Amino acid sequence: MRYGTFDDENREYVITNPRTPVKWINYIGTLAFGGFVDHTGGMLICKGDPALNRITKYIPQLPGSAFKGTTLYLRFRRGSGYKVFSPYFVPTLDAYDLYECHVGLGYTRIVSEFFGLHTDVTVFVPIGGSQAICDCKITNVSERSIEVDAIPVVEYTHFDALKQFTNADWVPQTMQSRVHRDDDSLTILTQFPFMRRDTAVNYFTSNCPVSSFESDRARFLGENEYGTWANPLSLQQAELSNYEARRGDNVAALLHHLGEIQPGETKRLITQLGQDESVEKALPLIREFREGKNVDAALEEMAQFWDDYLSKMRVETPDADVNRMLNVHNPRQCYITMQWSRYLSLYQLGFGARGIGFRDSAQDVMGVVANVPEEARALIEMLLQVQRQDGSAMHQFNPLTMVANEGDAREVKGAPKYYGDDHLWSILAITAYLKETGDLSFLDQVIPYYDKGDDGQPIESGTVWDHMRRAVAFTRHNVGVHGLPLLGYADWNDTVNLCAGAESPFLANLYGKALLELIELARQRGDGAAAEQCAAWYEEMRERVETQAWDGGWYVRYFEADGCPLGSHTNEQGQIYANGQSWPVISGFASPERARTALDAVYARLKTDNGIKLSAPGYDGFDPLKGGVTTYPPGAKENGGIFLHANPWVMIAETLVGRGDRAFEYYHQINPAAKNDRIDEFECEPYVYPQNILGDEHPQFGLARNSWLTGTASWVYQAGTQYILGIRPTYAGLEVDPCIPAAWDGFRVRRAFRGSVYQIHVHNPDHVCKGVKSIKVDGQEIGGNVVSILPEGGTCQVEVVMGERT
Ligand code: GLC
Repeated sequence: MRYGTFDDENREYVITNPRTPVKWINYIGTLAFGGFVDHTGGMLICKGDPALNRITKYIPQLPGSAFKGTTLYLRFRRGSGYKVFSPYFVPTLDAYDLYECHVGLGYTRIVSEFFGLHTDVTVFVPIGGSQAICDCKITNVSERSIEVDAIPVVEYTHFDALKQFTNADWVPQTMQSRVHRDDDSLTILTQFPFMRRDTAVNYFTSNCPVSSFESDRARFLGENEYGTWANPLSLQQAELSNYEARRGDNVAALLHHLGEIQPGETKRLITQLGQDESVEKALPLIREFREGKNVDAALEEMAQFWDDYLSKMRVETPDADVNRMLNVHNPRQCYITMQWSRYLSLYQLGFGARGIGFRDSAQDVMGVVANVPEEARALIEMLLQVQRQDGSAMHQFNPLTMVANEGDAREVKGAPKYYGDDHLWSILAITAYLKETGDLSFLDQVIPYYDKGDDGQPIESGTVWDHMRRAVAFTRHNVGVHGLPLLGYADWNDTVNLCAGAESPFLANLYGKALLELIELARQRGDGAAAEQCAAWYEEMRERVETQAWDGGWYVRYFEADGCPLGSHTNEQGQIYANGQSWPVISGFASPERARTALDAVYARLKTDNGIKLSAPGYDGFDPLKGGVTTYPPGAKENGGIFLHANPWVMIAETLVGRGDRAFEYYHQINPAAKNDRIDEFECEPYVYPQNILGDEHPQFGLARNSWLTGTASWVYQAGTQYILGIRPTYAGLEVDPCIPAAWDGFRVRRAFRGSVYQIHVHNPDHVCKGVKSIKVDGQEIGGNVVSILPEGGTCQVEVVMGERT
């Protein structure tokens, strides 16, 4: 079964059957204003903070057929009443003659035909804008004229998204609506919880005259809400009640008589949902987007943004699913994930005060440095502000207030109050940014540490370089009995929470990789002493990993406080962990022989046809001494599930040992685009990576969840572009070091780098996986794999021949 197809030309995925296994969504706007729209027109919108400034009430747990947040109704006279239907299919579920949901870059377009009416609605938030616009074009495709009414509807939530569901007296007592008539007799219906009447009002308005409106849900649905969203009884009346709600469940429904639409004729209705201090303040913007031409221009601007964003790298490989992911959907997901962190999705519901995660955002940055370097740098600056003086980092923070906390570690008595990995990821993010941009002056920027004095001001500041060095120093000084880094509350795997004193060889490797980055950077800065010190620390840890963490056939993943290994053949469950094997290769700690043996163990024990499991076998029963991992049944999430974020690390490791066929096998088996024709098992969107897929110990093996906001996006993008295609930014230039399937004849890449364009054509005449025989830049052979940086604004042709270098 398939529910749609990729339209590569238009950079869209087009859903043609609305009965998808779960909602397939798309993001519009940004965290500043925006949210997501599902493929049947439901919208979750918020401004600035999904937890504390939410606008629409979208309840993902309701069935797919249910109204969620927003819809559009159309109606025409039939018999003594009206035929009411939604061109979005949901919530009226009428039979359609055409249904298409175009999941586009920054917009969703739903095109449908019901009862002779062709409706084409584009939903988006203008760049930098603060309203969600629905641009609806309704065309009569029948042979008779039809008198059409259009009734767009929004259901509001209390701004405190969680309160909405925990207090069903206070919330409804506060919710109110008012109507405003604009000069030109257009209607603006506002909504606000009483305490925000004078500071933040939601508004809903359109470009066409409104003959009546409704703001109370009970009145809209009718008969004390025994009328339904599928058949709102008020829509059987000529007009709505024009009621300005003083309490209750608030909606905004605007009834427009579009009049007779002649065969072939189109009417355009543009609605806006926004929030501002007051209607007066919002009026200029509202008026701007009542004009069709301004809406068109805003969409054009959006297309331009994405043209620029995606122009940084374009690939042409023999595999169409690789091309569509690397050219459009994967970099797009990287941007969305960086923007939204883990705030708001169909799965991460944005209640409470989770904020932005240090480790997550640091890794997200790595997926966007080429495309939006300024945004990447700004996010790095924020992260460094929540690093502590001792070099460790706060786990989460609210980007609006910059108030940070220790994450789940807060809730467990006696648990270490830091995560062993957070601070180390920032080093990888910073060097990714520096290699991409060459902006080494960033290292001298002074940024405060998080610790505050009695006056609430930061006690100490340091340069970015200083922050980086403290990060590694923290790990070096917090080691356990094997000399390996202490786990803290957890490392990358949030769900393995061992007693204080536990050690993590994974952290040793992440630290090793961070040190490699620092050594290289110190040399760039001409700081020989720092390079030497980091090299000594690297060697010290390499020795410990190699003597302590090798288990015979693979590497151990943890040592518990009592010294017992986890992720060892001596364990019954959780014998082997994927991250235990990929990271010693990435850090360079593993000897070549062990690297291959460890990766072979992954292939033999963790590979499935749907991706690499995080560990095996799964823990079968809750064990508070191991923590969250044992709350899942075997095969789910971190407990032996296919946790996608960890897959690209194995791909990268395979390319480092030169096995391109294997790296690509792993790449392909989690490529969502490649699952399009058998998506019923996978269930989630075929155009983005999910966070997890159920593993083969679970009866529903292959089922994906938690799509969109996952570190998988950044890392698969890095694995695909920098390690499989092997186009890697370095301080000195663009490195070309592919590790591809032997069967490929080659590939092409257009890469914009440091202000110039590199047209790279890789030939693979001998059908090898790895190895570059020669590189010619504009016809001149160069030594080595690094194409030097061109003068700004330049362009060059790079011809690469793979094979043994002679
Ligand atoms: C989730 C978290 C991430 C963590 C991962 C593995 O994706 O957002 O921080 O590393 O789970 O536990």
